[in-house]
Amino acid sequence: MSQLKNSVLESSITGIKQIKQKKAKLQIVALTGSGVSKGSGIPTFRGKDGLWKNYNAMDLATPQAFGRDPKLVWEWYSWRIGLILEKNPNPAHYTLVKLQDEGLLKWIITQNVDSLHMRAGSKNMLEVHGNIFRAKCTSCSNKIMLDTAPEKPPMCECGEMLRPDVVWFGESLDQQIIMKSYDILTNETDILLVIGTSGVVYPVADFPFLAKRNGAIIVEFNVDPTPISQIADYTILGKAEEILPKFVEAIVKIEE
Ligand code: OAD
Repeated sequence: MSQLKNSVLESSITGIKQIKQKKAKLQIVALTGSGVSKGSGIPTFRGKDGLWKNYNAMDLATPQAFGRDPKLVWEWYSWRIGLILEKNPNPAHYTLVKLQDEGLLKWIITQNVDSLHMRAGSKNMLEVHGNIFRAKCTSCSNKIMLDTAPEKPPMCECGEMLRPDVVWFGESLDQQIIMKSYDILTNETDILLVIGTSGVVYPVADFPFLAKRNGAIIVEFNVDPTPISQIADYTILGKAEEILPKFVEAIVKIEE
């Protein structure tokens, strides 16, 4: 049963110290969701101020919606691109860079499409839901990067329309990225940090369960409990941008 008090931060560090005594080098992996970017001022999807409270996903984030009204879909994505470009990575993003630079964090698997982990300087990223700054052709295999919010639906050089290179409802995830994620979670994860995700969108919602079955310790960071809390060894309640840097500082000290 997970522990749901803020003192959990301390017990998680004690628990990790004990694992460290048995294993010379810890392999840590982070799984992130939109809550990690909340401290940057980017809205999450669910919850009271979430995007899906104010916008209908079925009108904006499905292949059918794009088929019906590509202009409307692009307007919404352009608005989000513009918003993200005004924001910057927050301490939660930067502290994961520190953990990577220390050689402790091997991978970041993110559901976020906002590029903020990359802008903070993270490497070894798997973007399981795509990237909002990439567009792909609806006809050929061409992909382009966008550095500004498009004012109208961008066109491919082949003459067909480009679409945002993100995963929409009803679409499959990139098989290579999924297989790589499964491999990491099964074979390369001693500790999985699950940060700012509601844990309700599949297949990613299953990732912590897979890691747990394969022996990983699950440390969850969220402002509220989630379905993942049931299997988490530690659920640390609080804002990722405030709590994660404290956790990382303590982990780095264990290694020194
Ligand atoms: P959600 O909006 O579903 O969940 C955000 C989570 O972040 C919630 O559990 C919040 O409690 C938590 N949270 C909010 N602020 C936080 C903070 N400052 N620190 C820590 N946690 C905080 O977002 P995701 O789980 O990322 O998919 O959503 C998963 C997918 O659903 C998204 O990738 C997107 C969406 O539909 C696609 O677009 C395919």
